[in-house]
Amino acid sequence: MLSHQANDGGKRTSLHGHWSSRMAFILAVTGSAVGLGNVWKFPYIAGQNGGGAFVLVYLVCVFVIGMPVMMSEVLIGRRGRRNPIATMGLLGEEEGSSRQWQWVGVLGVLAGILILSYYSVIAGWVLAYVVKSATGEFAGASSGQVTAIFTRFTGDWRLVTLSHTIFMGLTIFVVARGVERGLEQAVRFMVPALLLLMFVLLGYSINSGYFADGVNFLFTPSWDKLTWGSVLAALGQAFFTLSVGMGAIMAYGAYLPEETSITGSSAAVVVADTGIAMLAGLVIFPLVFANGLNPADGPGLVFETLPLAFGKMAGGVVFSTVFFVLLSFAAWTSALGLVEPAVAWLVEHFHKTRAQATVVVGGMIWLVGLGSVLSFNVLSDVKFLAGTIFDNVDYLTSNIMLPAGGLLITIFAGWVMCRNSSADELGGSGGLYKTWRLLARFLAPIGILIILVNAI
Ligand code: PFF
Repeated sequence: MLSHQANDGGKRTSLHGHWSSRMAFILAVTGSAVGLGNVWKFPYIAGQNGGGAFVLVYLVCVFVIGMPVMMSEVLIGRRGRRNPIATMGLLGEEEGSSRQWQWVGVLGVLAGILILSYYSVIAGWVLAYVVKSATGEFAGASSGQVTAIFTRFTGDWRLVTLSHTIFMGLTIFVVARGVERGLEQAVRFMVPALLLLMFVLLGYSINSGYFADGVNFLFTPSWDKLTWGSVLAALGQAFFTLSVGMGAIMAYGAYLPEETSITGSSAAVVVADTGIAMLAGLVIFPLVFANGLNPADGPGLVFETLPLAFGKMAGGVVFSTVFFVLLSFAAWTSALGLVEPAVAWLVEHFHKTRAQATVVVGGMIWLVGLGSVLSFNVLSDVKFLAGTIFDNVDYLTSNIMLPAGGLLITIFAGWVMCRNSSADELGGSGGLYKTWRLLARFLAPIGILIILVNAI
């Protein structure tokens, strides 16, 4: 535990190494942010919550709440330079409050484990769709056929377990290798390539004849459809898509070199992430309307619309395979952030090797994930509170744990940390700093509280 003591001119250094550059950090955080949340979850949640008004609330949540939370996480992470649990405890004491702030870290570690338990199941679907695309299963398929392929696949618990297992294996493999040798290279190429393919799909959806309907659905708000429940869903999605509220970004911030600008990096990530989600919406909804599908179809939405579009496109087999490969990479780079807090904690606290820690955490997540595997087949009729096991884990994490984590994190950064500490990390006390502080102290926490209280 010596190597993260102060030995850097009074500043701490991390036990797990550092990002090689500012770009490496931005790539890692972008890799964590851009994932299934943008391409799979955003369209179906927007569809279930009636489109327009939901999307506007979501955008406000991203910029007014999500971004200040992200900056708070990075600055706390860099100041503490340990795993989120230890960092929160350490800074709690150092800033004259209490060690008990470590429980915010614990909440985050648990949220990461729970999120990955179902994230891995959906990522497994994506892996399976790589194979289905490559073998031409979607070529020329009708909307009924594509839906049948999806229902047949998710209905078979053995296949879903297999793909969930493969995805968890891939995640464990990369996390065990460590921070710098991880997926930095993959992100560098994956995000631009994914973007490029999304533009190809956008071209297709513009020509579908239903583009205007899609745009209308996404951006014309009908406020009467907006309930506190959907406002909470928008807030939860904002947290989920930016990977904030659970310590992932805090863990990444711990590996950030001193001189890197936190504001600039966070802004770059938020803009890229939001852009990709909007693009996904603009691709999906015209296709939904062109094929007579229901926007409120739920988690299967992307797995039905996209194969349908690819199936009718020239070169669709290749495009579709490449697309699902890229989406697998996007899910993979996001999964890393979900386990990093737990792994870093085991390594620091129990002196485990990174490989041991990763296998323990990964194995546990795999086991919990079986609940979500079975939610789509054997246990699909078992419903309580929010719905199936999958629905409940998703609701609890996105709509409760992440906002609660974000609330505590902004209160800590805005109220508990003294001005000097946060200004030191954010590079001075100019206008940008003042804006962040205003959002972190007032707008973000009050906004989160109002939404949580009204929705629950
Ligand atoms: N932001 C990821 C996505 O949109 O797919 C999901 C996620 C990754 C959430 C990492 C939280 C996290 F720590």
